[in-house]
Amino acid sequence: MQILQTFFIYVPMDKLRVAIQKSGRLSEKSLDLLKESGIHLNNGSRKLKSLAQVFPLEVIYLRDDDIPQYVEDGVAHIGIVGENEYAEKNCDVELIERLGFSRCRLSLAIPKSEPYNGLQDLEGKRIATSYPVILQHYLDEHGIRAEVHVLSGSVEIAPSIGIAEAIFDIVSSGSTLISNGLKEVETVMHSEAVVIAHRNLEPGLKGLLADLLFRIRSVQAASTNRYILLNAPNERLEEIIEVIPGMKSPTVMPLAEKGWSSVHSVLSEKEFWAVIDRLRELGAQGILVIPIEKMII
Ligand code: PRP
Ligand code: ZN
Repeated sequence: MQILQTFFIYVPMDKLRVAIQKSGRLSEKSLDLLKESGIHLNNGSRKLKSLAQVFPLEVIYLRDDDIPQYVEDGVAHIGIVGENEYAEKNCDVELIERLGFSRCRLSLAIPKSEPYNGLQDLEGKRIATSYPVILQHYLDEHGIRAEVHVLSGSVEIAPSIGIAEAIFDIVSSGSTLISNGLKEVETVMHSEAVVIAHRNLEPGLKGLLADLLFRIRSVQAASTNRYILLNAPNERLEEIIEVIPGMKSPTVMPLAEKGWSSVHSVLSEKEFWAVIDRLRELGAQGILVIPIEKMII
């Protein structure tokens, strides 16, 4: 029996180093996104870093606050981080993709019992925050002089312990504010997870990044679109097709029953209910809506 020889040609390969949050509001979803993009990591348990199988990529786990600087320095080639940290750290990195998850806002809040007539009420007050850069920028823009008091955590308790009259912090569900007797008075910015990249990636790494982004965009597109199938009376077919144009144009097939066709298309989640209502008005029947796993656009 002849043994087939396998040749290994050793080519040193670039690896794309991706920084994600070690633990916090972005961690789980960042890992999920990589997984859905076909990036399976070697060690599930969070160590300092893990290596991907098949795709030349390595994940390093960092505090979200540190990610922008690591990406600027090129220690990580790209990072998944909250836009809030990206804005706060003001690092020289490129924002290359919005990811639409871990949405939150950065807001000013004051004790529930205090009256509020506008931003001028904060003139001369102390505002506690972990986001001094964004806050100061906002205050300057609105000509308000206030004392910015920097805290690294538990900002929401500052008013009750008497170290500030207001806070500026992340609000997501709003439950932290409520449980601390605070009310949101100004929304300063909206934030979501974003991908940031080092500015001068070498060509090999740029290629890997393009591959990864292509996968991420396919996952994103799939999650915001649905596959729709329906039966249409032939005399309304043209109008129905106009309502669900799909990626290129819908697939239309005759049904066994005369005078009817089956129409298949893709529908954005955003316009979902409006479109469904319109389709029913046009006489569409047997409407099926199915999730899409990946969408290559
Ligand atoms: C933020 C913020 C609040 C909380 C608000 O902390 O500091 O404590 O989330 O969310 P809610 O409106 O849903 O209650 P986070 O968990 O991000 O931790 P970190 O500030 O230490 O990064
Ligand atoms: Zn943080």
